[in-house]
Amino acid sequence: MKGTILVTGGTGYIGSHTTVELINSGYQVVIMDNLSNSNVEVLKGIEAITGVCPTFYEADCNDEAAVERIFSAHPDICGLIHFAASKAVGESVQKPLLYYRNNLLSLIVMLEAMQRHGTKGIVFSSSCTVYGQPEQLPVTEQAPIQEALSPYGNTKQINEEIVRDTIHAGAPFKAILLRYFNPIGAHPSALIGELPLGVPQNLIPYLTQTAAGIRRELSVFGDDYNTPDGSCIRDYINVVDLAKAHVKAIERILNPELGSPALETFNVGTGRGVSVLELIRTFEQVTGVPVPHKIVGRREGDIEQVWADPKHANEVLGWKAEESLADTLRSAWAWQKHITPKA
Ligand code: NAD
Ligand code: WQD
Repeated sequence: MKGTILVTGGTGYIGSHTTVELINSGYQVVIMDNLSNSNVEVLKGIEAITGVCPTFYEADCNDEAAVERIFSAHPDICGLIHFAASKAVGESVQKPLLYYRNNLLSLIVMLEAMQRHGTKGIVFSSSCTVYGQPEQLPVTEQAPIQEALSPYGNTKQINEEIVRDTIHAGAPFKAILLRYFNPIGAHPSALIGELPLGVPQNLIPYLTQTAAGIRRELSVFGDDYNTPDGSCIRDYINVVDLAKAHVKAIERILNPELGSPALETFNVGTGRGVSVLELIRTFEQVTGVPVPHKIVGRREGDIEQVWADPKHANEVLGWKAEESLADTLRSAWAWQKHITPKA
C-alpha cells in the first residue's frame, strides 16, 4: 500500500473515476461526500471494478467538526484530492452565495485541517474556465486569467488564489492545481459514469439522452462562430485519462526525491479542439445511433473556442491523454445505456 488519500467529492463524476485509478495504483482511499450531487450506490460500481470498497463518510466539507473527526480517525492520510464543489454554471448565477459558501469555505476548512494534521499535499480541481476566451491557442498555463463569466468560474479563480497564498505563506504541504478542460465519457466497464440530475446543461449528457430518446432534440448553440464549421470548439478529455492525471499529481506530491516545487499548475486536456458539430458526427459514426439536432442561437456566456496546450503535463507530470475521441464517445453511450436499459 502506498498510503491513504482523502478524496472529497469522491462519489461524484470525476471523483469516482479517480478513486478507481487510485485503488488500481495501490492507494487506500477515504471518501467524504455530502451526496448533494451524487448517489452512494456509486460505491458498488467502484467495488465491482476494483474489488475494493473505499471507506466512505457522508459528510460536508464545510462541517469543521466532521472534517476533524475524519482526519483524526485516519492519521495515515498523506494526501488530499479536493473535488467537492457545486458546479452548475447557470445555477451559480441564480444562487451566488450558495456557490461562494460551498466552494470557498470547503477549501478553507480542508486546508486548515491539512495544516493541523501534517498532510503532505493537495490536488485541487480547477478549470479551463479561468482562461476565458484566450488570445492564443492552444492555451498554456502562462495565459492570463480573465475576468470570470459566472460566480462558479469566479470560485475557481478565488480557490486558486487561496491555495497560492497559503503556499506562499509557507504552508507545510505542496499543492497541484489541475485545470481540466471538458471531461467526458465513462469508465469502460460502464459501471460508473456521470449522473446528471434533471435536464443536463452540458453537451455530452444532453447528446446521449437525446440518442436514448429521453430528449427530443439536441440544440446546437450557434453555427455562426469564427470557427471552421461555425460551432464552438472545446478540448474534450476522457474522464479516465483525467482520473489518471490525479494519480500522477498525487505521486509527484508524495515523492520527495523529485524535489518538485511547492505549487504547480497543469492543463489537463488532449491538445485537440473539436467542434460541437464534429462531436455529434463522430458520435453518430461510432455508435451508429442518430442524434436529432437543430441549430439554435448562441448560449449566453459561451466561449467561442478553447483547447489546451498539455505539454507541461506531458513533460513534467509524465501524463498524456491516451483515449481516442471515438472510444470516449462509445463509453459515454455504453454508460447511457447502462442507466437507461431500454435505450
Ligand atoms: P460532481 O458534482 O459529480 O462531483 C462533486 C461531488 O462533490 C458530488 O458528489 C457532491 O455531492 C460533492 N459535494 C459538493 N459539495 C460538497 C461539500 N460541501 N461537502 C462534501 N461533498 C460535496 O462534479 P464533477 O464533475 O465530478 O466535478 C468535480 C470537481 O471538478 C468540481 O470541483 C468541479 O468544479 C471540477 N470541474 C469539473 C468539470 C466538469 O466539467 N465536470 C470541469 C472543470 C472542473
Ligand atoms: C460544450 C459545448 C456549448 C449543450 C462548462 C462550464 C465549464 C466547465 C465545463 C467546470 C459548448 C455546446 C452544450 C447543448 C450545445 N466546468 N452545447 N448544446 O460550456 O464548455 O463548459 O462545463 O469547470 O466551466 O462552463 O461545456 O458541455 O456545457 O458545452 O451546443 O445542449 O457544447 O455551446 O460549445 P462548456 P458544455
